[in-house]
Amino acid sequence: MAKLTEISKPKASTSWGSGLLFFTVAIVAVALIVVQLDTYETVAYPLHELGETMYVPARKNSASLSGVEKIGSGQLIAPEDIIYDPKSGVAYTGCHDGWIKRVTLSDSLTESVVENWVNTGGRPLGLAVDESGDVFVADGYKGLLKVSIDDGKVELLTDEAEGVKVGLADGVVVTKSGMVYFTDATYKYNYRSALNDLLEGRPHGRLLSYDPSTKQTKVIARDLYFANGVELSPDQDFVIFCETFMRRCSRYYLEGEKKGTIDIFAKNLPGLPDNVRYDGNGHYWMALPWDNSLMFTYTQKYPFVRKIFAFTLKHLRKMPDLMKFGGVIVLDLEGKVVGGYYDETWGMTSAGVKIGESLYLGSVTKPYITRLNLTQHPLSLIS
Ligand SMILES: *[C@@H]1O[C@H](CO)[C@@H](O)[C@H](O)[C@H]1NC(C)=O
Repeated sequence: MAKLTEISKPKASTSWGSGLLFFTVAIVAVALIVVQLDTYETVAYPLHELGETMYVPARKNSASLSGVEKIGSGQLIAPEDIIYDPKSGVAYTGCHDGWIKRVTLSDSLTESVVENWVNTGGRPLGLAVDESGDVFVADGYKGLLKVSIDDGKVELLTDEAEGVKVGLADGVVVTKSGMVYFTDATYKYNYRSALNDLLEGRPHGRLLSYDPSTKQTKVIARDLYFANGVELSPDQDFVIFCETFMRRCSRYYLEGEKKGTIDIFAKNLPGLPDNVRYDGNGHYWMALPWDNSLMFTYTQKYPFVRKIFAFTLKHLRKMPDLMKFGGVIVLDLEGKVVGGYYDETWGMTSAGVKIGESLYLGSVTKPYITRLNLTQHPLSLIS
């Protein structure tokens, strides 16, 4: 046996080698043809619009790891957005099981109480509280909802604009006068199939407004690349809205000389923006669930790579893990990044809200809200 192996080895390995090569080439060729024939169409992103890289963050921020607390561990399934009502001292968060949970915050973890408040029957994402304490919900399946603070009654405000159904309501704000601005991340896909929107590369997102006095829904901005987080400026003279897949946020002016116009607030961000929240003190806190990794860059750059991923997603229900790092960046009033908290374990962070001297992080994967003591971890530039 040993002898036979020795004698036949050189010849066998050559033919094995070329056989394997042929086999591999054949498989790849067939796979490419099959993928190419797939009807799913992917298109190029307008990458020239990204411009200069704003800054490159360090990929590890070990400081953020020490002393992190977990609020509502096990009771909060993927708490996506967090909103704080300073009048009642209560925070709300929307979970994957449809529950909007009420969280009474306390310095002591054991005294931080999590309660079931209202179940929308959908997927509550972005949240906003108005002057009276009513909660507005961008529900990923249902559209724009309003929950009454008095009796917890859920009302559907709107789920379409210009005859086009809202596919994935994502972020929401409400002004002092009661106007609601919210995003439809993509009218083509829904919450479950949102990844296909990234892979396709077409702008199906919209910024919408809802006027409670006329009950009218208007399209403010269209052709957005996954319209996600929204926030009002401190004077409520503009609304910031983020396009996740283009790593940028724009502003729509509500007042002043530029009223009715749109310009860029921050672009070429170091990751993909999700919810953004003003802290009442000169800074916007913007969640970046995904890092701008090399893997993501290539995926975005090459439509054919996205076509392969779309194919594997459709047939194997799997996609490679494109990004791990995530966290929160902090922008000043002009949209300049002044720092952040960023970590390998904070991928899929969907909200960063500063309440008092603590940072509260929402996530679409974790079963709790993460709290970081900002007195112990003062803000600094990550780079
Ligand atoms: C944060 O840290 C400071 C300084 O160590 C401490 O005084 C404060 O109580 C902490 N806050 C919370 C919410 O634990």
